[in-house]
Order: sequence, then C-alpha cells, then structure tokens
Amino acid sequence: MKNKICILGLGYVGLTLALKFCQKNFEVIGYDTNEKIITDLKNSKSHIFEEGLDKILNKFVKNNKFKPVNKIPKNMDIYIITVGTPIIKKNNKNIPNLMHIKTVTKSLSKIIKKNTLLVYRSTLPLGSSRNVIYKLLKKSNKNQKNFLLGFAPERTAEGQALKELSKLPQIVSGIDKISLIRTSRLFEKICDNVIKANSIEEAELVKLTNNAYRDLSFAFSNQIALICSKFNINANNLVNLCNYKYPRSLVPMPSPGVGGPCLTKDPYILDYNLKGTKSIFSYGREINDKILVNLIDNSLKKIVKKINVRKKVLFCGLSFKGYPITKDLRGSAFNKFYKKYSIKKDIEIFYYDSLFNEYDLLNYRIKKFIFKNKIKFDAIFFLNNSPELKKISIKKINSIISKKTHIFDFWRIIHNSKKKLKTKNYYEIGEI
Ligand SMILES: NC(=O)c1ccc[n+]([C@@H]2O[C@H](COP(=O)([O-])OP(=O)(O)OC[C@H]3O[C@@H](n4cnc5c(N)ncnc54)[C@H](O)[C@@H]3O)[C@@H](O)[C@H]2O)c1
Repeated sequence: MKNKICILGLGYVGLTLALKFCQKNFEVIGYDTNEKIITDLKNSKSHIFEEGLDKILNKFVKNNKFKPVNKIPKNMDIYIITVGTPIIKKNNKNIPNLMHIKTVTKSLSKIIKKNTLLVYRSTLPLGSSRNVIYKLLKKSNKNQKNFLLGFAPERTAEGQALKELSKLPQIVSGIDKISLIRTSRLFEKICDNVIKANSIEEAELVKLTNNAYRDLSFAFSNQIALICSKFNINANNLVNLCNYKYPRSLVPMPSPGVGGPCLTKDPYILDYNLKGTKSIFSYGREINDKILVNLIDNSLKKIVKKINVRKKVLFCGLSFKGYPITKDLRGSAFNKFYKKYSIKKDIEIFYYDSLFNEYDLLNYRIKKFIFKNKIKFDAIFFLNNSPELKKISIKKINSIISKKTHIFDFWRIIHNSKKKLKTKNYYEIGEI
C-alpha cells in the first residue's frame, strides 16, 4: 500500500511538490494556515504561477488525488514541511525567523506516531534540524520518541519546479540511518538521482551554499557595474569582453539587483551561523541592494529635473525575474522602484505586464498600460527579462516615446535595435 503523504505549507515549494507526488500516483493531502489559499485550491485556483500548473492542479483536485485541507490530518505516514523561513530585522541585524517551522513542528509533535516520517524541505539555518526541530519534537513527544526525521532541501527554480523536481539531484539526509533510508526512498519515487548526504547538517549547508554562491556571483558583477557607472562604461559590454574566448573567467551579467524570496535572504541565514562576524555573504547582499538604490536614485535625477511638471513613467516586467516565468513580486526591482517613485506626487505610474491585472495590484497607485492607449511616456524601464518584453517591436516603442524620453534597459531587452529608437536617451547598466 502507498504511503499517505501530507504536505504542510502550500506555497511555491509545497504546492509544486504535492502535484509532483500526485503525478507519481500518490494521494496527497495539502495543509496551509491561509484559508483563502485552501478555498481557492479546492476550486482548482492556484495562487502561484507556473506554466502548465493550472491544468495539472485541476486534474488532481477533480480526481481527488490532491486534497487541500485547513486542519492537519492525523494518521499520515509522511509529513513534508515546506513553510516559509523569513528573515526579520532585529537591532539592525538580519535574523532568520523560525516561527512557522516551530508552530508546525509543535502541532505535529502531538499527532506523530512510531515510524511517522517528518521531512523538512524549507531552507533552514545550519544546525536547526537537530538543535531546534529534533529537540522540539522530542520534548513535546515524550512517550513516542521513535519518529523519523529527514531533511531534503528544495533547490528548484521558481517557475519550473515541476520540471526540475524529477531532473535535479535530490539531496536527502536523516537524523539517523533509518530516517535517511526512508527519506531517500521517498524522493526516489519522484527522482532517479537521489544523493544521501553524510549528515543532516551537510544537507542544510548544501542548500545555503548553493544560494549564497549564486547571490555572491551576481554581487561580484554588480560591484563591477557600480565601478562602471562612475566611468560611464557599459557594464554588459565590459562583461562580454571579459568572457570572450577567455577560458578563465565566466563573469555573470550585472543586473538591477537580485530579488526573489530566496537569494535575498539565504546569504543572511548562512551569515547567522557566524554569530556576529560580518561575512562575504552579507557584503554581497548589500552590493546587490546598493546597485538597485543607485539605479533608482540616478534615474530619478534624470527624469525629475523640474518640479511641478507631471511625468509619465512605464514599468515593464514586474516579477522578480522574467524567466523562468513567475508571478512573484517578492524582492522584485519593480517593488523597490515603485516604493521610491510612488511618493513623488508629480509622477504618474503605469505598468506593462500581462501576468498582472489591476486586481493583483489593488494596493498600488498604478495603471495598466496596453499599446492601444496612445500615451507618450517620459521614461520607460525594463525591469526583468520576461520573454513578453522581448517581443515588443521598436515600432511600438517609438509610438509611445518622444525624442526626450529616457529608456532604462537594465536587461538589454532592446539592445540590438537601440539605434532605431526615436530617443538618444537610452541607458544600460553602468551608463547611469
Ligand atoms: N520559492 C522557491 O522557489 C524556493 C526554492 C527553494 C527553497 N525555498 C524555501 O522553501 C520554503 C518555502 O518557500 P515558498 O516560496 O514556498 O514560501 P511561500 O511563502 O510561498 O509558502 C509558504 C506557505 O506556508 C504557509 N504556512 C505558514 N505557516 C504555516 C503553518 N504553521 N502551517 C501550514 N502552513 C503554513 C503559508 O501560508 C504559505 O502558503 C522557504 O524556506 C524557502 O526559503 C523556496
């Protein structure tokens, strides 16, 4: 008989993982504390966007393989925990907050039985599985200590999790040998490439290292871009020159910051283990934030030269990344630009992004723009690398700009046709 699985936390990680297990013929119960998410999921309506996900969700809700519930079910063989692990600011320091992990763990400790397997999937500060979760479970579950505890970090990219879950090697770990074997067997059901870590801490650190490395590599390029902007050097050209047929460097392209829910916090989670010593990881984070602040401030200076002259600004591409496609505004360049631009009374803000309707942006002072509206903009920003933006023709762009319009092309969306633009005020990273 197949194991009964419950997934706790139905966000980007939990929902996609639940559907992956359904695709492998498991019946999965999904629990979330957010009632709206549960009600919507019961109606096959997802709160997250991933290409193809809606269809799969609809199929498994209809045939009852995926059951969203608002109470933690008892008598499950396996509970997989995918709740959020945010960062909070305390005394000006970025501290991981395990509130959701602790809440869910305490609830589970009351219902788990002998041989129940708990697998944590959320990104955790190093040592938390053993020193926080295991201790909590043992403390609250005095009579039944022989539950099993595994940790298997989620490493998929938002927007293509369903594809990557079977393709990426799954790193698994356990608090003891039997927990490791059971966690490994579980992930073998969805992936052919399951790797057993030597300890639960090793698996925790793999996840943190992957993300801190990625964030830091972008910080390197963004630090170079900050130097470029002092000398008006196009940072993208520079990186291309560095990498051209030169086998000893693969510098990433600079960007308007690094956003999203993971890279913006995981370096701080890793830093937390250094107990107060400032590390290269948090320096990198600061640089990735600083480049965005520079771009915002410098673009504002170009646009708002005269006060009391109303300006129209268009933000294109709102999610924190354009590809793989996702509809996630957490840590996005757009949110940061919006925050600074929206307090200027003389700026009227529009957006171009078919993923978002005005209902999604009810709390924003912003209007949706479509090319049928004949508006002339004072500034246009390309804020992510969405495939939708790459399809806009120069003819269309010329129809909504004047000779004075400023175009900030942080992702080189129209780089190849920039000479055909009506305006000469075109900037890539390093040029402002
Ligand atoms: N988003 C990604 O692509 C990604 C990739 C790798 C790792 N991670 C990590 O996975 C974890 C989850 O990330 P996410 O992006 O899915 O977060 P999310 O915010 O999208 O989802 C978390 C869900 O947990 C629910 N929740 C909170 N407390 C709960 C509780 N006590 N019981 C049940 N549900 C509860 C929330 O309502 C929310 O729906 C984080 O640790 C994150 O760092 C995320």
